[in-house]
Amino acid sequence: VEAEAKAYEACTQLKADLEERDGIYIELDSAWRSVAAQQEILERFTEQYGAEYAAKTVAQPGYSEHHTGLALDLYFRIKNADGSFTDVYRNEDMEKEAYKGIWTKIHARLADHGFILRYLPGKEHVTGYRYEPWHIRYLGSAGIARKIMSHPGLTLEEYLTGREAPAAVTDPGKSAIYADSDLENAILTVKCRFASLPGCELRAIRYAGDKAASKEDLARLNARANRAYAQTMVLLTDFRTASQVLVGFEANREYKDHAWRLARTAESGWEIVGFGDEQGEHRASPENA
Ligand code: DAL
Ligand code: ZN
Repeated sequence: VEAEAKAYEACTQLKADLEERDGIYIELDSAWRSVAAQQEILERFTEQYGAEYAAKTVAQPGYSEHHTGLALDLYFRIKNADGSFTDVYRNEDMEKEAYKGIWTKIHARLADHGFILRYLPGKEHVTGYRYEPWHIRYLGSAGIARKIMSHPGLTLEEYLTGREAPAAVTDPGKSAIYADSDLENAILTVKCRFASLPGCELRAIRYAGDKAASKEDLARLNARANRAYAQTMVLLTDFRTASQVLVGFEANREYKDHAWRLARTAESGWEIVGFGDEQGEHRASPENA
């Protein structure tokens, strides 16, 4: 298996760390891949699982993070009572409920070695791919990796766009329900949406307060959306639209206290589930026209 030298070195340390501290044995399944190798994988997956599954699981040849040598696919080995090992390496085996605990422990050690988990559950609409507990990405900096990994549900895409989003006045406020990192993460989610709305200038963003995050709000949302979100909140924004037409917005208008309702399940990160009035309950979500 070939990988970028530093990524490989970091993975060796990750492996040693996991063995020593958690009794978990990881191995490298795939790292650097040529465009031809990616093509082969895509063909194999298409044959085995169908085109739809393949498209959500395997990047188009030429567009895989594996071409950089900074993306690594892990698998693990289970130590049997007699000291022998059983390899667990097929996607459908690694995804089994029984191994969730193993992945949680592996993921908890990634950032210390400069890695992040790249394709998160519930973020297919952001990353383009299904959840892959085995695919890790080397960032080189444990500091940045920790920053991303300490926000559950935050993808690399969101981190990068949110960081580059226009410097809006940001007031995470105070909450008795949410930790500062929850509020920050939610703010980043909305900033990220703004970054994708052409011409929209976000001026200010703030937490609407715990009153809009009550059990009643959650029950109403779940009934309306027919979902089972575990938590909800509202962020208020001031912004200006440009001359482009955006669905749900008027062009060239100054908006004040415009609400964005967010929600998350126990497993996924914040999603925008509504926007509009004070409660963020008018419409589904704005999109480009
Ligand atoms: N499995 C990831 C998305 C890739 O093929 O690059
Ligand atoms: Zn991968």
